[in-house]
Amino acid sequence: MSRSSFCRVLSAASLLLLGLALVPRCTDAWKHKNFTVSDLEHIQLPLNLEYLEAEYFLWAAYGYGLDKIAPYLPQGGPEPIGVQKANLDNFTQDIVIQLGLQEVGHLSAIQKALGPYYFPRVQLDLSNATWANLMDNAFGEKLNPPFNPYINSLNYLISIYTIPYVGLTGYVGTIPLLKGEGAKALVAGLLGVEAGQDAVIRTLLYQYKDELVKPYNYTVAEFTDKISQLRNNLSHAFVDEGLEVPKSEGADGLVTGNVLSANNYSYSYARTGEQVLDTVYGTGSASKPGGFYPKGGNGTIALSYLKS
Ligand SMILES: *[C@@H]1O[C@H](CO)[C@@H](O)[C@H](O)[C@H]1NC(C)=O
Ligand SMILES: *[C@@H]1O[C@H](CO)[C@@H](O)[C@H](O)[C@H]1NC(C)=O
Ligand SMILES: *[C@@H]1O[C@H](CO)[C@@H](O)[C@H](O)[C@H]1NC(C)=O
Ligand SMILES: *[C@@H]1O[C@H](CO)[C@@H](O)[C@H](O)[C@H]1NC(C)=O
Ligand SMILES: *[C@@H]1O[C@H](CO)[C@@H](O)[C@H](O)[C@H]1NC(C)=O
Ligand SMILES: *[C@@H]1O[C@H](CO)[C@@H](O)[C@H](O)[C@H]1NC(C)=O
Ligand SMILES: *[C@@H]1O[C@H](CO)[C@@H](O)[C@H](O)[C@H]1NC(C)=O
Repeated sequence: MSRSSFCRVLSAASLLLLGLALVPRCTDAWKHKNFTVSDLEHIQLPLNLEYLEAEYFLWAAYGYGLDKIAPYLPQGGPEPIGVQKANLDNFTQDIVIQLGLQEVGHLSAIQKALGPYYFPRVQLDLSNATWANLMDNAFGEKLNPPFNPYINSLNYLISIYTIPYVGLTGYVGTIPLLKGEGAKALVAGLLGVEAGQDAVIRTLLYQYKDELVKPYNYTVAEFTDKISQLRNNLSHAFVDEGLEVPKSEGADGLVTGNVLSANNYSYSYARTGEQVLDTVYGTGSASKPGGFYPKGGNGTIALSYLKS
């Protein structure tokens, strides 16, 4: 029996025997060959990241987030800790508004695809203390004053250098594991825009790459290099490059400028789901929550590591 006729029979049987409980599952995406259950579980993992992106961009630009803009998306999940409006110039705010609203679209698309596999917003910690801690770890010293992403546009841009890139490497890692046509189409579409977001952020930062990030004695390029090194360490792999690299790592091995992070063939690095969690938890282990996710992520794959 094909999956869809199986579903029809199941729906009819459940109407008769069990009431309506099973029907919604069959009207959702996985009714079709477009999404296997494994596809849905793989798409749950980046849902954790899309929540973070949406809240961090929207709050920075507007001073409020999903609860006000799209309350059907967080489904009553806990409010993010310590997130706030950032002091952005008009140009940066204009761009961050667009990034935030793109995430609303991503979450809506994922919600539609996942159906009963969708889950409410997870606990996020976007406080200035968490950001300060991340930068201290990247530099291996306590920055003085503590790094605060919310105080100006440059600091905020440096902070978001850390965000879509992890998502994009995760999507590159996910696509080869997907089976259904719809799942591949969805993740390819999400990947395209995450990569675009990363490119916009990196290009904006690239024009200031040699400037000091006041009051620190480190340039913008040094910040990005340190953040990327930290993320490589947390991921236990070489998948991340800052805005300036040794020539051997530059495009075709010929340049030190590195507006995009890419491997020796100039295609995108991939992260596994586990490496994504190792990185965003800030602990180097998908079994140890922390960083932006004090209680860890949700969904089958994230939960499987939390249990282990
Ligand atoms: C920024 O936008 C606000 C509100 O739209 C406007 O009042 C202000 O003049 C703008 N500032 C600059 C520097 O363009
Ligand atoms: C995870 O998602 C399920 C729904 O799929 C929900 O019932 C549960 O409360 C969520 N757990 C956390 C920690 O957010
Ligand atoms: C962090 O943000 C809080 C308000 O949300 C503020 O009171 C505090 O001074 C900030 N700390 C630093 C180190 O910027
Ligand atoms: C399956 O996915 C393809 C590609 O996105 C789409 O064109 C098609 O409409 C989907 N089929 C169903 C039944 O949802
Ligand atoms: C700032 O850093 C540069 C090199 O990175 C160093 O030469 C200089 O001495 C530093 N200045 C201060 C005030 O620490
Ligand atoms: C990354 O790990 C290397 C080797 O253990 C270490 O030398 C370096 O300081 C670490 N860098 C960061 C930013 O964590
Ligand atoms: C890229 O190529 C250079 C030179 O052959 C090599 O040193 C480097 O390890 C390569 N990088 C990666 C990530 O494979």
